[in-house]
Amino acid sequence: MNFVATLSETAAKNLRELEENIRQAISDDEFIFEACEPLIRGGKRLRPMLMLLCANAKTSCPNERTMPLATALELIHTASLVHDDIIDTSKKRRGVETANSKYGAQIAVLIGDYLFAKAFQLVAENNYDARVQAILSKLVKNLCVGEIRQDRSLFAVPTMTEYYTRINLKTAIFLSSCCELGAIVAQMDSHEVETLSAYGTSLGLAFQIIDDLLDFCGDEKVTGKPHGSDLKSGVITLPVIRALSTSDEAPALRKIVTSGAVTCDQIATAIKIIRGTDAVDYCRTRAEAHVEAARINLSSSLKVSVRIALERIAEFVVDRTR
Ligand code: FPP
Ligand code: MG
Repeated sequence: MNFVATLSETAAKNLRELEENIRQAISDDEFIFEACEPLIRGGKRLRPMLMLLCANAKTSCPNERTMPLATALELIHTASLVHDDIIDTSKKRRGVETANSKYGAQIAVLIGDYLFAKAFQLVAENNYDARVQAILSKLVKNLCVGEIRQDRSLFAVPTMTEYYTRINLKTAIFLSSCCELGAIVAQMDSHEVETLSAYGTSLGLAFQIIDDLLDFCGDEKVTGKPHGSDLKSGVITLPVIRALSTSDEAPALRKIVTSGAVTCDQIATAIKIIRGTDAVDYCRTRAEAHVEAARINLSSSLKVSVRIALERIAEFVVDRTR
C-alpha cells in the first residue's frame, strides 16, 4: 500500500511542492546533485509528510512556513541513511547503489555531512521558533546515540528493554519530533503538541518493528535489500529475540546470531528457524498494538482530512512492503 495515493488533494499538492523543494536543496553543487538525486528519489517522505500534516491539522499553515523545515527533515533522514550505509558497508539502499559503494566511504561521509549541513542552513535561514532548533538537535543526538548503542552491541542479544530503547532512539523520536515540529510551527497549544508527538512515538515504534521484520520476510526486490542484512551485520532485532525465547532450536539460532561472522548458509538456517516460530505474527501483533496506541492520540478536533491521512499512515506502517 502506498499512503501517498490515499492523500487528500491539498496534501498531495504539498507533497509535489516538497519534491521540488528537495530537488532545489540538493542543486547548489553539481556533484552533490548527481550523487544525491538517485538516493533521495526512492524515499517514502514519511517524515516531512508527518510534519506537513500535523502543521495543517487544525488550520492551514502557509507552505512558506512549513516547506523549509519539511525539506530539512528529509535531508537529515537521508544524511543519516548515507552514514548508516557506510557503517553497515551496505551496497544497496532503496534499490540503488549506496554512496559508499559508488564513491567510497570518504566521499560518502562528506555527502552525508553536506546534506546534514544543508538541512540546518534551511532551518537557520527561515526564522523558526527557538524550539525547532532544539528539537532537531536533540533528535539527531538521539539518532547518533541509538546508532552507537547498536554498533557497540553487535552480535549480542539485547533484552526486550534494550531493543525498545534502541528503536525509540533510532526511529520513534524522529517520527514524534516530525509531528511535534508540525504542531509547533502551526502554534498549537502544549496539549495538542503533546498528543501529536505521542502519535508519532507509537507510530515510530511500529514502523521500526515492521522494518526489522521486513529484513526476514520482505520481498527483496521491493525492499531493495537482501534478506538477513541485519543478521549479517550483527544487528539483533525483535523477530530473533522472540524466536530465541520460543523455538526448540534456540541454541542453534543463538550460536549463529552471536557468532560474529555469519555466512549465507547460516543466514538461511537462521531465517528458517525464525519462520518456524510465531515470531512473524508476534512482531505484527506488537506493531499493530503500537499503531492502535498511535490512533488513540488522534483527537476528533483535528481536521477530518488530516485525521484520515494520519490514520492511513498508521495503516500503511503495518501493511507496508518496503
Ligand atoms: C537506518 O536504520 C538508520 C537510522 C535510523 C539511523 C542512522 C543514524 C546515524 C548513522 C547517525 C546520524 C547521522 C546523521 C548525519 C544525522 P536501520 O539500519 O535499522 O535500517 P536499514 O535497514 O534501512 O538500514
Ligand atoms: Mg542499516
